[in-house]
Order: sequence, then C-alpha cells, then structure tokens
Amino acid sequence: MILEVENLRIEFAFDGKVSVPVRGVSFSVPKAGRTALVGESGCGKTLTALAVGSLLDRAKISGDIKLNGRVAYVFQNPMQSLDPVMRVGKQIEEGMEKGLSRDARRAQMEQLLESVGLPRECARKYPCELSGGQQQRVMIASALAQSPKLLIADEPTTALDVTTQKEVLDLIRRIADEREMAVLLITHNLGLVSRYSDYVNVMYAGQIVESGAVKSVLSNPRHPYTKGLLAAVPRIDAPRDAPLVDIPGTVPPPWAWPEGCAFHPRCPQATKECSSPLFKKCPCLTDYEQF
Ligand SMILES: Nc1ncnc2c1ncn2[C@@H]1O[C@H](COP(=O)(O)OP(=O)(O)OP(=O)(O)O)[C@@H](O)[C@H]1O
Ligand code: SF4
Ligand SMILES: [Mg+2]
Repeated sequence: MILEVENLRIEFAFDGKVSVPVRGVSFSVPKAGRTALVGESGCGKTLTALAVGSLLDRAKISGDIKLNGRVAYVFQNPMQSLDPVMRVGKQIEEGMEKGLSRDARRAQMEQLLESVGLPRECARKYPCELSGGQQQRVMIASALAQSPKLLIADEPTTALDVTTQKEVLDLIRRIADEREMAVLLITHNLGLVSRYSDYVNVMYAGQIVESGAVKSVLSNPRHPYTKGLLAAVPRIDAPRDAPLVDIPGTVPPPWAWPEGCAFHPRCPQATKECSSPLFKKCPCLTDYEQF
C-alpha cells in the first residue's frame, strides 16, 4: 500500500466548542491503481486529504497515517493555488528537487509541460493568460515535478466544462499509468468514480460508510447513502421528462451531526434503532467486507 489511514480523527476547537469533522476514518490506497473518496460537500474529504500530507494546522489529529512515498496534490481551483505574478515555468520548477542545475531544471520543466499537453512556450506565460483547463494542466505538471508516488486530486475538474473535465481526468489516468503512480481522486460524482477509479470509499458526515472495488460497490451498493448517490447520477438514457433524483436534505455541519447513524434523518430505510446512541453499524452492511 502507498497509503494506510487508520482511525483518523480531526478535531477543531472554536468558541469553547469542539467540532469533529472527521471521526474514525480508515482506508488504504494501493501502490498501483486509482482510489476514490466520494461524498457530498462537507463530508470531510478535503480535511482527510490534507491530514495525509500533514497540511492541517490548528487541528487536533489522532489516528495513524502511513505514507510510503511522496505525495503531491492537485486542487479544485488552480487560480487559488497558482501564484498570479510568477511565470508558470518557474512555478513548475519550484517543486523540483534542490541541487539540479538550471539547465536540468528547465529541460525537466519543458518535458513536464509537454507531457501534460502544453507547448513549451507556456513556460513564459502567467496563469491569467491560460484557460482553466490549461491552468489545471500546469497544476498537474507542478505536482509531477515533485516525483510523487501518490497524487491526491481533490475535485480537480469541478471548475471545468465537461469536455475539459474529461481531458484532464484522462491525462491524470495516462500519466498515473505511465509513472506507476497511485491516485486518490476526491469527488462528489459517482459517475466519475465509475470511469476513473478501481476502488472507492464512500464518505458521509466524517466517516467512511462503504468501501470496496468500484465494480462491486457500484453494481451492488449496500449502504443507503451509496444507493442515494448512485440514484442521483444523471443518466443519458433516462426519459426526457424523468425528474432529477436527489437525496432529500443536506449534510449538516459537524457540530450538528445527529446521534446514532448520522444519515438517519435523510435515510429512506431508517428505523428507530438507527437514531439510538447505542447504534454501531448500518444493518444494510451485514456481511460487509472491507477490501
Ligand atoms: N479549518 C477548519 N476549521 C473548522 N471546521 C472546518 C475547517 N475546515 C473544514 N471544516 C469543516 O469540516 C467539514 C468538512 O470539510 P471538508 O472541506 O473536508 O469537506 P469536503 O467533503 O471536502 O467538502 P467539499 O466537497 O465541499 O469540498 C465542513 O463542515 C467544514 O466546514
Ligand atoms: S443505519 Fe439506518 S439510517 Fe443509517 S444508513 Fe443504515 S438504515 Fe439508514
Ligand atoms: Mg473538499
């Protein structure tokens, strides 16, 4: 495994209150292949990812994170991550290991630009001179400059149109295969998971509720939340007048997560036991096996 996360808990204290947006998360990422972390907004996906790279300050973190190689990130909005007043070539070079000669850095940077499908001339441009898709390619090149063994792509295409989204995800997949680099794709879209991942972890209210090989989880989802996410994926073959399906309600904030199963106020299969403080595990997951 390139990454093993065991019982991760992330806690923030503010205004005399304690908020625990990630509570007891365990999952692993195999060395080769692509793993997804999927869930609605506010479920704790980004916090989990940031904890992996020790990028969280002000948080109290417990649990075990075993990372067996370098990790690099691609985030949702490239304009927030790129320096607007630095040429993109320089920004890509910044991630490279120290001690390389100037010529070697430039050659490597130009090679990276080419491998993400950008012309060498882009090196002299500023981020604002590039399109959103091109900026995200620069972010991928910057991440690759660090020679990571694990690339965490946190909603890397949410800000892009669908055609560019496909190009960027295809690019990540190709590069990951070429470099034998593991990918952790973070998304709220199970449609993307089915296309771009081998393993999936479904996250709700700071916990992993279901995980396994994508083929088996998507063909036989057990947890009602996974079923809800799957039903909400728009289908091209649906009748034109079919109503859009969604999961009723929204994810509450961490300080208001319900007792018992946190999903119970929104779950069509909830019973009285589901809201009990003694609740342990969703009955739909009987005989459940982690991958
Ligand atoms: N620094 C912080 N201090 C306190 N609470 C935080 C902090 N960062 C995030 N949170 C809260 O933790 C919860 C999970 O946040 P996180 O960003 O991990 O969600 P997410 O699953 O990545 O959502 P999205 O899909 O919108 O990116 C949210 O309710 C958020 O408000
Ligand atoms: S524990 Fe109950 S409320 Fe929670 S997902 Fe399972 S059936 Fe639904
Ligand atoms: Mg996020």
